[in-house]
Amino acid sequence: MVAYKSKMVERISLPARETRERALEAAGYNVFNLDAADVFIDLLTDSGTGAMSDAQWAALLRGDEAYAGSESFAELESAVADVMGFEHVVPTHQGRGAENVLYGSLLSEGDVVPNNTHFDTTRAHVANQGADPVDCPTEGADDPSLEAPFKGNFSLERARAVVDDVGAERVPVVVQTITNNSTAGQPVSVENTRAIRTFADEIDATFVIDACRFAENAAFVRRREPEFEDATIDAIAREQLGYADAIVMSGKKDGLVNAGGFVATDDADLFERCKQRAILFEGFPTYGGMAGRDLGAMAVGLREAVEPSYLEDRLESIATLATLLEDVGVPIYRPVGGHAVYLDASELFPHLEASEFPGQALVCELYREGGVRGVELGSFAFPNTDRPELVRLAVPRRTYHREHFEHVAETATAVLENRETVSGYEIASDPAVPELRHFSADLEPLEPTRP
Ligand code: F0G
Repeated sequence: MVAYKSKMVERISLPARETRERALEAAGYNVFNLDAADVFIDLLTDSGTGAMSDAQWAALLRGDEAYAGSESFAELESAVADVMGFEHVVPTHQGRGAENVLYGSLLSEGDVVPNNTHFDTTRAHVANQGADPVDCPTEGADDPSLEAPFKGNFSLERARAVVDDVGAERVPVVVQTITNNSTAGQPVSVENTRAIRTFADEIDATFVIDACRFAENAAFVRRREPEFEDATIDAIAREQLGYADAIVMSGKKDGLVNAGGFVATDDADLFERCKQRAILFEGFPTYGGMAGRDLGAMAVGLREAVEPSYLEDRLESIATLATLLEDVGVPIYRPVGGHAVYLDASELFPHLEASEFPGQALVCELYREGGVRGVELGSFAFPNTDRPELVRLAVPRRTYHREHFEHVAETATAVLENRETVSGYEIASDPAVPELRHFSADLEPLEPTRP
């Protein structure tokens, strides 16, 4: 059931087709290079792109900008304690700042870090410490058509194989990402979190949860894990996060704000180490690179993120987009995750090889046909892996409604009508960091492979 009405609006418009064609070409067929003004429905990310509530805007005005000991920081501490169950908080400018602070405090050269699936910035921060990030997704996670309740889970079997291979002393940290963004936003069960806690104890490792989308995950647990069908969202979130020694958080997701993040822990020792590192990279530990007003808005956002009516509206909105797309025949990753719908580009364009970037072709067609911006998460974003060729349509929180999604489905219909004639792409520039090429590389369309 709908949980919001609008109090402020932002004008959007669909640029003319020739404007879109020109913008796409000028962007080197990479939608990260588009001006947002040239985008009609922006589904590039759910990160920091949502709408704040009236209560959050009110908190902005009350923000305490004291350099040390700000009242807004105290509000954040109390929200993190109530909603997530941790005593100590180190604020940071966003999630990757929290990753730098925490992983820089925990890891050394030669360490190995298992994660259900590393998000890009997590992988990069683990590698930046000289450690080796290893993905341990559950069996079937890469199969877009397998129906299972918790495809985001961490494979204990794979984690054990890592430890057997390198030895427990080289695995000081185990990370679980909830929901699992790099596996189509799939949820992780509390049972799986418990198992990873036990595993971390066995090998004497620190157990970290990447909690960016912890509230969406709790909503799925309530719906799909029988043990929790009568539990409150609050209780589920606190129980699941409570198994971790520390969490990293991007406030731009389930903090319902446009900027911010933090590390939280009950471990006084780890807290001290993180604080020292935060002073170096983020700011004094009671603001950590955030304005006082943004700390205040994030404190309110965390509480709103676990409200049942918000979460119902949130999951409903992703499901609506998915159903509209499936109804017009678009192949999608099933079941639908918590923050995005992931389209299966190899199924949509069977005439395109992975080397011709079918996902990027789909991203370009969605923009060309309807000014819709998504992001490729296949061979272009992840070179040299055999992941499925997916395109993510991430849904900003409390921002778009059914009419916007109907436009996305109409756009997809137009793409489907010409699917045989869509050509692939090749990379035209040679970016300095190949792992991050999807953010900056220019592409060129190949000739149509079929008339
Ligand atoms: N961890 C996960 C699981 C994420 O999805 C992200 C960001 C981060 C960490 C880093 O947080 O952006 O605040 O520095 N994901 C965004 C996305 C960028 O589009 O999925 P950040």
